[in-house]
Amino acid sequence: MGVEFPADFLWGTATSAHQVEGGNVNSDWWDFEHAPGTAARESSGDAVDHYHRYADDFALLASLGHNTHRLSVEWARVEPAPGEFSRAAVGHYRRVLTALADTGMTAFVTLHHFTLPRWFAAAGGWLAPDAVERFTHYCRYVATELGDLMPYVCTINEPQMVALHGYLEGYHPPGITNPVLWKRVGRTLLAAHHAAVRAVRDGSPHSRVGLAVNLPLLAPVRDDETCHAFCRLMRHEIVDLYLDGLTGPDRGDWLGVQYYRKQWVDAAAPTLFADPPEGFSRTQMGWASYPDGLRQMLHRAARTGLPLYVTENGIATEDDAERVDYLHTHLAALAQARAEGVDVRGYLHWSAFDNFEWSEGFRPKFGLVTVDRENGFARIPKPSAHAFAEIAATGRLRR
Ligand code: NOJ
Repeated sequence: MGVEFPADFLWGTATSAHQVEGGNVNSDWWDFEHAPGTAARESSGDAVDHYHRYADDFALLASLGHNTHRLSVEWARVEPAPGEFSRAAVGHYRRVLTALADTGMTAFVTLHHFTLPRWFAAAGGWLAPDAVERFTHYCRYVATELGDLMPYVCTINEPQMVALHGYLEGYHPPGITNPVLWKRVGRTLLAAHHAAVRAVRDGSPHSRVGLAVNLPLLAPVRDDETCHAFCRLMRHEIVDLYLDGLTGPDRGDWLGVQYYRKQWVDAAAPTLFADPPEGFSRTQMGWASYPDGLRQMLHRAARTGLPLYVTENGIATEDDAERVDYLHTHLAALAQARAEGVDVRGYLHWSAFDNFEWSEGFRPKFGLVTVDRENGFARIPKPSAHAFAEIAATGRLRR
């Protein structure tokens, strides 16, 4: 079967600063990784040393046929103390984004991808009364300084997961498990997005600004009313709150859809979610792959009226043949959504490199490219990187 993607479709991968750069020592995540008793298994350490190797990394990705790349600017580096911006850090990101532009790849630049400056976290993080104002100040600064190199700006990566993991599950910093704070932080992050849209437009009127949301296909694990009701609540807090919140003048120019899996909600489980039922194989994250969920969630996201980009999709596996299969089945689902009229303009695979998977450490392998962290951080493209290159070059899926 041949499935067509248009010639101007965006193809690439996504990363985030903390997961690939290394040495992000002034962030809340660095502290979480080094504090006893948190969910974090190991330190991000040098990560994959992308901080120093970015130019070679971009050249490699361009040679693999990518025309787009998503990365994040690290707030903890750019604003190491409240209101005090680092010229050196901004200079670094100017070199990074210039090197990226020189390859011809289009940049998607995220301003907040899970990590916070230590001072912001210490002042209360997203619970602090001036959190939105502080964040907006940083966004305006980056947009003003680097806007000429940021055609696409993503304000916040997965606000729902920041709220869920950090304030309900306690699995990410600040490690809180409080339903009231969980709901409050979600609403604060949505307000922060809207304020950041205004700040980015002030600082860089030509950048197209958007939000990246994680959209799992949520289902009740049992067919009883309690489970259905709980699933409705979770769907409201994780999906609808954000998508329905993207209205009005500060809604942004595009929406990033990040889809990985179907997820079963369990009203009786202390963990809120159940393991995938019999018949579903599990990835290294314990997740169930379900390609049609991508098609369904793209339809849901399309109701915002915004142009869509898949800004993340991928699988943690040591079995690269499984990754190739995941890629094909999910791109087929994306192509089907397009054929059904959904305006999806690009696909960014998570991730370019095997990298630091937050509390799970380096064990889950999400990359199209292996990094040998024991031997000079050598980059070795996997067969999936070549499979992806062929799809990007031809705009066709061959099964
Ligand atoms: C979503 C996050 O944005 C990214 O940081 C993470 O590594 C992937 N999903 C995989 O869990």
